[in-house]
Amino acid sequence: MTGLFISFEGVDGVGKTTQVNRLHNYALERGLQPLVTREPGGTPVGLAIRELVLHGIAAFPSFAVTGGSDVVEEGDDLGPRTEALLYAADRAQHVSQVIRPALQRGQLVVSDRYVDSSLAYQAGGRELTVDDVRGLSTWATHGLMPRRTYLLDMDPELSHARLRHQLDRLEVEGDDFQRRTRDEFLKLAEAEPERFVVLDASQSPDDIWQRIRRDFDALTAESGISGSSEQDSR
Ligand code: TYD
Repeated sequence: MTGLFISFEGVDGVGKTTQVNRLHNYALERGLQPLVTREPGGTPVGLAIRELVLHGIAAFPSFAVTGGSDVVEEGDDLGPRTEALLYAADRAQHVSQVIRPALQRGQLVVSDRYVDSSLAYQAGGRELTVDDVRGLSTWATHGLMPRRTYLLDMDPELSHARLRHQLDRLEVEGDDFQRRTRDEFLKLAEAEPERFVVLDASQSPDDIWQRIRRDFDALTAESGISGSSEQDSR
């Protein structure tokens, strides 16, 4: 398959989306045709799954009828296996509808989260096994993995303090969950140093971006993906 597939990973609040946007703009300036996407929710089906997985059954008040009342009870929350399957379902749709066709057209694809989020949150955080969760994702994606993964790493106590929106099901989990998730990301990066670039997310957004840009330039040169101009403006 041609094209170039890049993912961004990290715990919530580390500034992934800022860096994804910078890479998007930079790739456009370089005349590449980037396809920027995210998980969960990179497709219409994925958006429905995103609501369920981030807000539980409360996202669908008309279904939340338990024992004749419409109060959502604790037992109505998603079980850990259900949650893992929903993220895998989102990913299956995302790969078949969006990512794989774009790579086959030779495009640059940048995804805000991918397989490693499932390994870190559902295995590291929720304590399913890494092998089980990896098996699900491998099946869902036919084994499609990114060429490069930028991991923005930071102490979750600090990154969570930066969140400004109403917290979702994963973000309200306690400090231990967030710490396990971060540790799992770091373990994954250590196991695959060829794929991962680990960035200290407590640095300034500009410093982080400069490192990503340098790596991205080398990567595009090596992968042969090229645009209409090779200008280097930042
Ligand atoms: P994200 O879109 O990054 O959150 P936000 O909109 O707040 O920036 O991700 C939503 C949440 O889903 C995040 O807490 C991580 C979680 N998640 C998993 O637990 N497993 C997964 O496989 C993915 C892709 C995300």
